[in-house]
Amino acid sequence: MAYENIRLEQEGAIATLFIDRPKALNALNTKTLQELESALKSLPADVRVLIVTGGGEKAFVAGADIAEMAALTDAQAQEFGALGHRVMAALEALPIPTIAAVNGFALGGGSELALACDFIYASEKAKLGLPEVGLGVIPGFGGTQRLTRVVGRARAKELIFTGDRIDAAKAKEIGMVLEVLPADGLLAHCRAVAEKIVKNSPLAISKAKQVIEAGADQDLRAANDIERKAFGDLFGSEDQREGMKAFLEKRPATFTGK
Ligand code: CAA
Repeated sequence: MAYENIRLEQEGAIATLFIDRPKALNALNTKTLQELESALKSLPADVRVLIVTGGGEKAFVAGADIAEMAALTDAQAQEFGALGHRVMAALEALPIPTIAAVNGFALGGGSELALACDFIYASEKAKLGLPEVGLGVIPGFGGTQRLTRVVGRARAKELIFTGDRIDAAKAKEIGMVLEVLPADGLLAHCRAVAEKIVKNSPLAISKAKQVIEAGADQDLRAANDIERKAFGDLFGSEDQREGMKAFLEKRPATFTGK
């Protein structure tokens, strides 16, 4: 489908979703969020890893669209926030791995979008942060919750209360970003990681993601129960049979995701 503010490119099993509205540094207005919601719902079934990045030279996403938000009533802001939350939740709930390639400014809703991915790689040029309190609001697309779960309460409070923009090295130091890459090597790195992932069983990866997410909100015993059941459930699948047979026959496995 043709979109105005986003672009989906697919190469084999790896798709790259560009937020592509560079004139506004890829800011998330209603239209862009609606396009994202639709694209996430209709991802081609053969996509096994999704990379999310920003179009243009400067930004991943510079936040929710301030020009649009400035005029919202509180009821409209509830709707706008709900749309943003739906998009982040849809991204998080995808059964395939998602990688944020933060290629520039990732502020406010931009950091929130990156945090809704499974993990984040950033270019040396990246600047991340949640500057919403400087606009008289708080993060509204899940930032108070997802950032806190990733970096801990004190760091999240420090970033949110100061509104500081941090560079990629600092974001790596606090655990928000996994690796910092030269700007011209960021997407290649993400694709290389994606290539490794697509060699493995899609069924097992999807299950692992589901278990990690479901367990993260539970105590350890309950979380381990989720893992125990999921581990057993995979036996008898084509991927389990093929993976173990291929090991014993000393050949690479060919997985079908069934
Ligand atoms: N919303 C709308 N437009 C934005 C935008 C945003 N979040 N960020 C940048 N733009 C627009 C600018 O208004 C400008 O448009 P014009 O050319 O028409 O004037 C264009 O993008 C280029 O931006 P700048 O000229 O400001 O570029 P710069 O290099 O001088 O600065 C920047 C870059 C530091 C990222 C700066 O643009 C900036 O601070 N942007 C806002 C960042 C921000 O506060 N984000 C949080 C938004 S609130 C939020 O996200 C709420 C939530 O959680 C849901």
